[in-house]
Amino acid sequence: MTTGSAQSTFEGRRVLITGGTRGIGRATALSFARAGARVLVSFRSDPEQAKSLGDGFELVQADLTCREGAELLAAEARERLGGLDVLVNNLGVDGHAPFDRLPESEWHRLLDHNATSAYLVTQCALPLLGEGSSVVNIGASVALRGRPNGVHYSTSKAALVGFTRALAKELGPRGVRVNLVAPGVTETEPGAGLPPQLAQKLAGLTALGRLGTPEDVAGAVLYLAGDTAAYVTGTTIEVDGGI
Ligand SMILES: NC(=O)c1ccc[n+]([C@@H]2O[C@H](COP(=O)([O-])OP(=O)(O)OC[C@H]3O[C@@H](n4cnc5c(N)ncnc54)[C@H](OP(=O)(O)O)[C@@H]3O)[C@@H](O)[C@H]2O)c1
Repeated sequence: MTTGSAQSTFEGRRVLITGGTRGIGRATALSFARAGARVLVSFRSDPEQAKSLGDGFELVQADLTCREGAELLAAEARERLGGLDVLVNNLGVDGHAPFDRLPESEWHRLLDHNATSAYLVTQCALPLLGEGSSVVNIGASVALRGRPNGVHYSTSKAALVGFTRALAKELGPRGVRVNLVAPGVTETEPGAGLPPQLAQKLAGLTALGRLGTPEDVAGAVLYLAGDTAAYVTGTTIEVDGGI
């Protein structure tokens, strides 16, 4: 997709991105704004990072692992934007623990952030999503491949595949599309914050010989949210360089 086509596609559209102050969410927020959208971004704990997005973004601080936070966010979206054309369920957390020592608290932390938050936010935002609107969830390409020391992470992201497909069927008759973007290892910080040898090894496993960028992922989100994907719903796009 060219920048030119994106710019004309989202003029005046109302977009909500959860966890849009860092990494993939931030790149997605900036891409939508460049394409003419009105963008509301949520974050949890770091107002300075949120403000660094610059003027023109609506910001809401809320913990979206609980219903109160999701209700607050939906109420702000209604008041500030009057409704939504695009909801991006982006927020998520990672975790690393061998399965035999995986604490229950970690299991719940990952499920709450990566799966339950999408349920809560989408349900609370549902009255704002009219015909022609779309939901884009951010999963992970590792969901269906599996990753050692990441049973909880893979489980939470695999849940979003079922969430996406089932919700697409429920909301299709209302003209609302639901899709999933599944990124591979993405450089939200140099070398994806990994030891250099591991980053190099993972890059070498991809068909394209490099790690992803947040902008690579944002491109797929904008495609799925846009009019050129009008007949695309319930699907997953992997943005993982062909790993
Ligand atoms: N990075 C990768 O390599 C990669 C690969 C595959 C999939 N993904 C997925 O892509 C998405 C974005 O990842 P990322 O690495 O870009 O994330 P990130 O840099 O860690 O940013 C996370 C964002 O979510 C917000 N957040 C965290 N917990 C929250 C909560 N309880 N309520 C509300 N907001 C909360 C954070 O706000 P504060 O900073 O204010 O706390 C921040 O804006 C996630 O779903 C992740 O699982 C990432």
